[in-house]
Amino acid sequence: MTKPVEGFSKWTKEEKIDWIAAQYTLDPEAAKTLLKSYLNSDAKLQQLHDEFIENTITNYYLPLGIAPNFLINEKLYAIPMAIEESSVVAAASRAAKFWLDRGGFKTDVLGTEKIGQVHFLYQGDVAKLRAFFIEIKDKLIADAAPITKNMEKRGGGIIGVELRDKTSELENYFQLHCAFETLDAMGANFINSCLEQFAQTLQREAKNYDAFTEDERNIEVVMSILSNYVPNCLVRAEVSCPISELTLKASISPKDFANKMVRAIEIAKVEPHRAVTHNKGIMNGIDAVVLATGNDFRAVEAGIHAYAAKDGRYSSLTHAEVEKGVFRFWIEIPMALGTVGGLTNLHPLVKLALEILGNPSAKELMQIVAVAGLAQNFAAVSSLVTTGIQEGHMKMHLLNILNQLGATESEKNILITHFKKNTVTHSAVVEAFDQLKSKS
Ligand code: MEV
Repeated sequence: MTKPVEGFSKWTKEEKIDWIAAQYTLDPEAAKTLLKSYLNSDAKLQQLHDEFIENTITNYYLPLGIAPNFLINEKLYAIPMAIEESSVVAAASRAAKFWLDRGGFKTDVLGTEKIGQVHFLYQGDVAKLRAFFIEIKDKLIADAAPITKNMEKRGGGIIGVELRDKTSELENYFQLHCAFETLDAMGANFINSCLEQFAQTLQREAKNYDAFTEDERNIEVVMSILSNYVPNCLVRAEVSCPISELTLKASISPKDFANKMVRAIEIAKVEPHRAVTHNKGIMNGIDAVVLATGNDFRAVEAGIHAYAAKDGRYSSLTHAEVEKGVFRFWIEIPMALGTVGGLTNLHPLVKLALEILGNPSAKELMQIVAVAGLAQNFAAVSSLVTTGIQEGHMKMHLLNILNQLGATESEKNILITHFKKNTVTHSAVVEAFDQLKSKS
């Protein structure tokens, strides 16, 4: 049995690789060779990646693809996407091309406010706490001035600090609920630093507040942390066209297609099982761009899913309608993104992805990401309501299956040609591959 290790983080990378391979793999030499083959030969570049996290033993690759032809507010973008799932980039590109000829995507940022909270417990007279808060509010902001100075120079900073009474939900529980403008930064460090300062000021001032009793002076700060739920950091993206222009597939009339799209969205609005999958498809596009641009996709995911449940039932993030002969399809989602700070200044591919997008501001990036989500959903739902997704999906998956089977380049070419006319299923590919092998 393997034993726990001491001081693992202090070991060299070589030592870590040797240990993990020896302890946990069946063929340590093969594992070591594999891990090392993914290291970059440029030592400086490798060191940069090593230092993003702790205990790095190698790099983990994801493909970076490009979905071109996105017309957003009259500007043409080629969108970088980092994702492992086949057919996502192809679907985005297809939707981009379709809407390119129909006026493109129109977007708008509806708000950029970020949120953070100091969660604390207070036992005592609530009216006194309210009076205390009014008295110290300016001090809270003044004490944070060294942190906010630079952000304020650029036009951002603290927007507001509120005292919230949450005692109806949890005994003695109150919050400082704080709003921030962090401009082109995602703002996590800025917000958390401000909050920790607020917490200190809150406790210090309470100790010296004459009107408080001894118990009331002992405010217990439980934690100070930003919220990834940012419903006022909101972006909207939309496409629309006369129904007659919805000439997507020969097998369905534009009118039937429009109605089926609307129906599919209605189903995702009322049925959580469908809504989760519907929104997962949206996140295929969103996560891929968020990841390629060095942003925190877990934060974006958490916030968007919370927004999808904001009315008490998990529901569709996209909306569709047909009115006066026009089909309209749109999305409204919250997200906190940065185009400065964090990985954006460090990871060479992230820098390049941002350059490909024209070095957007955070607001512009929000719009690009929302469009990627909307396009992805349009592509997925339009396939679902017509041919079904397996046709396109399995075609894209064909290469993965062939790679798994160890097909050579010429075998791949022969089988790709074969499956242009035949239905792709896992067993059909295996069978065709075996047949080809037996012939040669
Ligand atoms: C697959 O990754 C995403 C879809 O399931 C999304 C959807 O069903 O709308 C195709």
